[in-house]
Amino acid sequence: MADAGPLIEVRNLKKNFPGAANAWGKSSGVVQAVSDVSFDIGRGETLALVGESGCGKSTLGRLMLRLIESTSGTVSFDGRDLTAMTGETLRRARPSFQLIFQDSGSAFNPRMRISDIVEEPLRIMGRPAAERKDRVLSLLQSVGIDRNMVDRFPHEFSGGQRQRIGIARALVSDPKFIVCDEPVSALDVSIQGQVVNLLMDLQRDFGLTYLFVSHDLRVVRHVSDRVAVMYLGGIVELGPVGELYDHPRHPYTRALLAAMPRKRREAQAEPAFVGGEIPSARNPPSGCRFHTRCPIAQQVCSQQRPVLEPAGAEHQVACHFPG
Ligand SMILES: Nc1ncnc2c1ncn2[C@@H]1O[C@H](COP(=O)(O)OP(=O)(O)O)[C@@H](O)[C@H]1O
Ligand SMILES: [Mg+2]
Repeated sequence: MADAGPLIEVRNLKKNFPGAANAWGKSSGVVQAVSDVSFDIGRGETLALVGESGCGKSTLGRLMLRLIESTSGTVSFDGRDLTAMTGETLRRARPSFQLIFQDSGSAFNPRMRISDIVEEPLRIMGRPAAERKDRVLSLLQSVGIDRNMVDRFPHEFSGGQRQRIGIARALVSDPKFIVCDEPVSALDVSIQGQVVNLLMDLQRDFGLTYLFVSHDLRVVRHVSDRVAVMYLGGIVELGPVGELYDHPRHPYTRALLAAMPRKRREAQAEPAFVGGEIPSARNPPSGCRFHTRCPIAQQVCSQQRPVLEPAGAEHQVACHFPG
């Protein structure tokens, strides 16, 4: 297994969804949910993915875990092409990458005790019973669920506790890479910080690598090493968190940051407001997809799609007129 190099390498990844059929059974074209995306995530790194609702964040996260199949392009995990794996190879690789989503608790079987919910992935993997029990208890403890609560049922816990249990379940198979898809947005603002800090502690303790999807730019600033900004299926800017927040180069990133709430404890309601309607991913604008809302667009912007190009150390931007 390669020990150098990034843990995750995404290359020219695309996902088209067939458009819904209309009343006459005619399909209305394809939705380009992810369109030619390439980036790496280093070992132990947190890459945040931000952008308005519908821009393709969840689709990209699911492609990277191979929960859905890509239209084209590749995702490599530890130097191995995940998109090409099949059968037993894929089955054995799966425990290494996991998803934590917005409301993990809502997917729990209400009739299962939480210890069984957390243990289930280990049972599926065929781990011995004695080992399973120890691991479940120690993980529940790591996420802050007391030993005397493990025989209770999901409804006996608060939303924040259920999210902690969901995190324990995602970690029980000893994964290396986790997609956290809006992991705290369903939670009360007063407890979001605790769960975010828990995720950061677990990352350090277990050496995890995160793709952290969020529309809350305050949370993103707190957790991430680098940030990728997505607009209508494409990455328009990518860079180290401090650099990107202090010196945003893309007009879309600047608009997102300008819409960020100023008050410290104020959670960001979805989505960050940027003037103008988001165009449809079914019929994306020609050239730069942002040109229809861009305050500095020129003629070339509607004709040529800009590619992600270096804009300083580790910083990349896809814009004909980067600021
Ligand atoms: N299973 C699906 N079938 C058809 N279209 C989909 C499907 N999932 C997502 N989409 C479309 O793909 C685009 C991106 O969606 P999504 O990845 O959920 O965005 P985000 O997570 O950024 O809000 C949207 O236009 C959405 O309607
Ligand atoms: Mg989403």
